[in-house]
Amino acid sequence: MRTLTILGLESSCDDTAAAVLRQPGDGAAQILSSVVMGQNDLHSAYGGVVPEIAARAHAERLDTCVVQALDQAGFALCDLDAVAVTAGPGLIGGVISGVMCAKGIALGAGLPLVGVNHLAGHALTPRLTDGAAYPYLMLLVSGGHCQFLIVRGADDFTRLGGTIDDAPGEAFDKTARLLGLPQPGGPSVEAEAAKGNATRFRFPRPLLDRPGCDMSFSGLKTALLRARDEIVAEKGGLTRADRADLCAGFQAAVRDVLAEKTRRALALYLQENPAHPMLAVAGGVAANMAIRAGLETVCAKSGTTFTAPPLALCTDNAAMIAYAGLELFRAGQVDDMTLAARPRWPLDRSSPAMLGSGKKGAKA
Ligand code: KG4
Ligand code: ZN
Repeated sequence: MRTLTILGLESSCDDTAAAVLRQPGDGAAQILSSVVMGQNDLHSAYGGVVPEIAARAHAERLDTCVVQALDQAGFALCDLDAVAVTAGPGLIGGVISGVMCAKGIALGAGLPLVGVNHLAGHALTPRLTDGAAYPYLMLLVSGGHCQFLIVRGADDFTRLGGTIDDAPGEAFDKTARLLGLPQPGGPSVEAEAAKGNATRFRFPRPLLDRPGCDMSFSGLKTALLRARDEIVAEKGGLTRADRADLCAGFQAAVRDVLAEKTRRALALYLQENPAHPMLAVAGGVAANMAIRAGLETVCAKSGTTFTAPPLALCTDNAAMIAYAGLELFRAGQVDDMTLAARPRWPLDRSSPAMLGSGKKGAKA
């Protein structure tokens, strides 16, 4: 196999990103550069990502981002072998910005174009960071996604279940908003929860009474809202301890749901793949130490290896898109100028489409 160098672009939500990756024919892929330009400052006043603002910012920043990634890697466009781009799922304006930029580069520099599914980028990250061999089970938990995937190849996924409403990151963000804590909500709720008593409020563990690996998180925030309002009605406001206890109770509920559903998904996965006991997590929520600990306990009980990529590669980035693009390109999957931006693009074509759309776009 020959050495390949690939440029990746990502713009499906609120991070504009470009990265250059190089893989010697028989060696591990190296990230030569990975530039991520966040947009928190642009959306913070609105309490969520505003798709039109995100799309405009991507269109304005993608070229600068690409130039920075190439400069940091010490490569010019003519040195590349291909350009990979997120072609969905995500907020459509942003995805279009990325696909148009990648088409321009591909046409201008005469490079092959590879359209990548954003979720495949997350799902293949353990191969980039840990050299994980196929197959493995992946739990993707972020602000926009929550699903269990059996990963068998760069274009071979089986979805075992996922959220039927909110993603867990979304639930953390909403909880923070309800309690007057800063965004993004995950880190601030986790910090409060560390000071609180998780047994004072017993929040529901939705869908644990039903078989299967599907999850639901939207009812949790309603329960939290009710508990908050009861305290306010009784005492006129929330004390620091109330806030910490609410966060601790909420986090414990999310941890328990994810742990139990992971136990079930792992059992299904291991039935089919007993020789490959491995669970990988990705997505911003994987940064949560309580949730990680819950997953690690489940893995330990079944002798399963647990792996989580470093945080910068767990959250949205373009190195994962470049890597997924590289695997597809090596397998001969190349797109042409008809490559379309797709707001929805389930990884597993045989599983039923998910309903609903979160603040970060359509659920895949
Ligand atoms: O993967 P990500 O950066 O973006 C996408 O959603 O694609 O994930 C961001 C989400 C946010 O909802 C954020 O609140 C959540 O991940 N998050 C956390 C933690 N850190 C980030 N949730 C729980 N605990 C954390 N420590
Ligand atoms: Zn993502």
